[in-house]
Amino acid sequence: MPVTVVVGAQWGDEGKAKIIDLLSKEHTHVVRYQGGHNAGHTVVVGGDRYALQLIPSGVLYDHVVPVIANGVVVDLPTLFDEIDALEARGHSCERLAVSSRAHLIFPWHQAHDAIAEAVRGDDKIGTTLKGIGPAYADKARRVGLRAGDVGDLDAFAVALRARAEAEDAQIRAAGSEALDIDEIVERFVRLGARLAPYVADTVELLHEALARHDHLLLEGAQATFLDLDHGTYPYVTSSNPTAGGACMGTGIGPREVTRVVGITKAYTTRVGAGPFPTELGDADGDRLVEVGKEFGTVTGRRRRAGWLDCAMLRQAVRLNSLTELALTKLDVLDGFEEVKVCTAYEIDGTISRGYPDRSVLLARARPVYTAMPGWSETIGEVRSPHDLPDGARRMLELVQDEVGIKVGVVGVGAERDDHLQWTAT
Ligand code: GDP
Ligand code: IMO
Ligand code: MG
Repeated sequence: MPVTVVVGAQWGDEGKAKIIDLLSKEHTHVVRYQGGHNAGHTVVVGGDRYALQLIPSGVLYDHVVPVIANGVVVDLPTLFDEIDALEARGHSCERLAVSSRAHLIFPWHQAHDAIAEAVRGDDKIGTTLKGIGPAYADKARRVGLRAGDVGDLDAFAVALRARAEAEDAQIRAAGSEALDIDEIVERFVRLGARLAPYVADTVELLHEALARHDHLLLEGAQATFLDLDHGTYPYVTSSNPTAGGACMGTGIGPREVTRVVGITKAYTTRVGAGPFPTELGDADGDRLVEVGKEFGTVTGRRRRAGWLDCAMLRQAVRLNSLTELALTKLDVLDGFEEVKVCTAYEIDGTISRGYPDRSVLLARARPVYTAMPGWSETIGEVRSPHDLPDGARRMLELVQDEVGIKVGVVGVGAERDDHLQWTAT
């Protein structure tokens, strides 16, 4: 299993970090391939909670080389806050490698994010306001500054000032506060100097690892339905979390990838705006939010919640070539009298098992549900599939039948060890 990709199969926060932490035991490198500090990845070890935004979730193991690859957009203040916090807790980040090709985020990206959201008014996307979209836009416009640019700090300072002056004019024209250009240049040159020792040709580093038959884990942030191309546009992020993005975002070709694990919760959540066919506006929805503690790691926002959607998961299998699912938070369904799973959509009177290509259609989709009796037991201590209540077993079997691939790991709690293996993978 030399290269494994882990990708969210829904709208994010599926518990990817917990599964990556688990899989890290058998991998040498854990590599973030897209997104930035819009991600919030939680790992809980012996009661200690780690909330990671940029550093790969494998960092808690000493044997893992954490890599931030070329597809990521890097916010330097966040990166160093995270390194400092991890090192203060005894986790060295010395091995961290940051791709010379990774683009950097600057304060004007955050200003543009806020301006764009304000302009959208009621139609706003509900971004994390971290500057992710504008940073990727600058990459596409070919005006971005990259981690490798800190190799020559004098040239970096000149380029930084030129970019800051151009952006300042635009931001002021949009009615926003002027940038403090001198402060930004001074601060980011200092941060650039601190970044320099971490910068590497990660394409070279990863291919050398492949040549040694090391095991690489490519960590997706966000999720399939937040993908810029395949998600619910425009209610998406500005990168490609889908498995193809793992190749582009690391410089590893598709033939190297041997395993693609899709992560899903036992229900569905979404944070920010956009269509959500199985969303619940009732007491069941409130219960999922409260029991599942569905509040954003990064922004603290209450997540929207609803039943599991197998129409989504089938599409996620296609888009990512998923080889298996890991299903998390099954314990959150404990005590529901009835559990529902969406198996198809009714759109304008027609029932379809496919996935609509436009958000306006998805917004009109009415879920077709299979309802089944829930279970009254608490499953947090269960470690064997045979010990799961009948209702939970039936649900997992239904998901496998509907989605067409096996469920491997099942999460029954937030702690590192709170899981069981449903089927061998
Ligand atoms: P990510 O962005 O996909 O890594 O997920 P987040 O960390 O944003 O959100 C998942 C939340 O669920 C975190 O608070 C995890 O600690 C928690 N979690 C993960 N797996 C399980 C599980 O199986 N059961 C429960 N109850 N919580 C879980
Ligand atoms: P993890 O990796 C859930 C959502 C935002 C917004 C949209 C665009 O923790 O699963 P952006 O700031 O990226 O331009 O916002 O995407 N979003 C996430 N939702 N989990 C995430 O990351 C997310 N990252 C971005 O809420 O709807
Ligand atoms: Mg998250």
